[in-house]
Amino acid sequence: MEGKKEIVLSGIRPTGFVHLGNYFGAIRNWANMQNEFDCYFCVVDWHSLTTHPDTKELKSNVIRLISELIGSGLDPDKCVIYIQSDIPEIAELYLYLTMLAYKGELEKTVTFKDKVRMQPENVNAGLLTYPVLQAADILIHRAVKVPVGKDQEQHIEMTRNFAERFNYRYGEVFPMPYAFNYGEDLIKIMSLDGSGKMSKSENQMNTLYLADDDDLIRKKIMKAKTDSGPTVPNSEKPNYIDGLFNLLKVVSAEDVINKFETDFNNCNIRYGDMKKQLGEDMVKFISPIRARSEALRNDEKYMKEVIEHGTSKARASAKATLQLVREAVGVKYY
Ligand code: TRP
Repeated sequence: MEGKKEIVLSGIRPTGFVHLGNYFGAIRNWANMQNEFDCYFCVVDWHSLTTHPDTKELKSNVIRLISELIGSGLDPDKCVIYIQSDIPEIAELYLYLTMLAYKGELEKTVTFKDKVRMQPENVNAGLLTYPVLQAADILIHRAVKVPVGKDQEQHIEMTRNFAERFNYRYGEVFPMPYAFNYGEDLIKIMSLDGSGKMSKSENQMNTLYLADDDDLIRKKIMKAKTDSGPTVPNSEKPNYIDGLFNLLKVVSAEDVINKFETDFNNCNIRYGDMKKQLGEDMVKFISPIRARSEALRNDEKYMKEVIEHGTSKARASAKATLQLVREAVGVKYY
């Protein structure tokens, strides 16, 4: 059935350590999709330059990320894992698309406005055209499904706009891509102080990383914010408590979850016990991923082979699209 399956693309920025939010929000879904679709997963190093111009840690971040993607269940024989900067075709497509993107709409993009607020001293054109580069990532494989979180939906909508304008002006090349997720399966992973989503820029003690060692995992969870417990039966859970229960739901056994739910509802929950249990279950969950990833990235030959294999598959697909694009645009002279 090769070539008949729908094409999926997603990207992840190599800007820091992979955390539990990345795992449950993205990577686990990717691992499910690789069995069903024609999947491309891209480490978007060019995108990271828009916010992280210092590249001292870029290489180790990229390699660690790829090892963690595979350690988390992506299979390089089932999906295409590659690095954005290895595919120059993306940059060329980006160039054509910039002429179809308007300054006004780029300035209105929510993520752009956020980043202007965060780094007012570096409002570079790459930041402004970030969604155009993302569109090139997607359209270069003529992908139709893009597994991303809510915060990325505006970028996917912009991608459709650019693709539509291209098709209208130059002829039909691109199918329309849509954001995709497995709906209810998406569990929100909150930071350990309940202040928001677990994120890369967050205080490291409030974030669980796939690279954390066992003691650090236990320590972070024991320090997670709790209180003296509910005093009224069947109360609503405060954010930070709800966040801990969500973690329990993703790593602990059914009877454990039920026990603490019941204790909470009966106002006799002991958060110390709950965190201890959660710590142990989290260690059981993270440590095999950490060990697998570590072993992979220590095997330089393997990593090189995986990256070369991914690059050659991604480039073949990218070249085929770019050929159609060049013909359509009319920059094919001989
Ligand atoms: N902008 C995405 C993020 O911040 C990363 C990304 C880059 C991406 N290119 C992509 C996601 C293409 C999906 C498809 O998470």
